[in-house]
Amino acid sequence: MDSMGELWKTQLHPARSDPLSPPTVRLARYNVAVAPVIRDFQPDDFEILWRMDQECFPPGIAYSKPELRAYLRHRGSFTMVATDAENGKVAGFIVAHGGPTGHIITIDVAAKARRSGVGAQLLRAAEDRLRAAGSCAVGLETAVDNVSALSFYKRYGYSVIRTLPRYYSNGVDALVMKKELT
Ligand SMILES: CC(C)(COP(=O)(O)OP(=O)(O)OC[C@H]1O[C@@H](n2cnc3c(N)ncnc32)[C@H](O)[C@@H]1OP(=O)(O)O)[C@@H](O)C(=O)NCCC(=O)NCCS
Repeated sequence: MDSMGELWKTQLHPARSDPLSPPTVRLARYNVAVAPVIRDFQPDDFEILWRMDQECFPPGIAYSKPELRAYLRHRGSFTMVATDAENGKVAGFIVAHGGPTGHIITIDVAAKARRSGVGAQLLRAAEDRLRAAGSCAVGLETAVDNVSALSFYKRYGYSVIRTLPRYYSNGVDALVMKKELT
């Protein structure tokens, strides 16, 4: 369990008055050319994000609609959405929670959009926002058998801190990973 006693898979609906909410930005990839557009969550995105989460995770780990809604609305959380620069379709999203140590709650990239830098751009955008809000580090949980996520996080500087036995409802252990943001 995380510090809030909640089950986090690894959220943007900040108040419109959130001074740390950047305007919609177009970011370069970590390592290649075609950049997704990274923007803040809009209420109309909800259904698409929920469906994406259902496709990204197995039953029991994928969020129910009430769970996802709660994380998106959680005080201190924000959600960023990546869209295809050409057709505007949602390619992925990331939900994070601020604090001295920020937290990645989930990151989901549509199967068709993977391995093209969308995840990397979302992660970097969330890290940038957490850093700007004063987070010194960021942590997350991921399933021990989620090879792609482990490889992804390690590539971007996250280290395994400890194991949480049977963290997920299907009995799978989680690895707690952390990255310093300084
Ligand atoms: C993990 C996830 C977010 C990565 O998103 P992505 O957009 O495919 O990631 P990127 O294209 O930015 O990948 C960047 C790097 O991460 C690593 N990586 C990503 N997916 C990988 C895979 N399946 N196998 C090995 N390495 C992988 C590689 O180093 C990759 O660089 P490369 O393509 O130049 O080799 C995506 O696979 C996903 O949504 N998975 C399902 C949901 C999930 O498990 N989320 C994590 C929850 S803890």
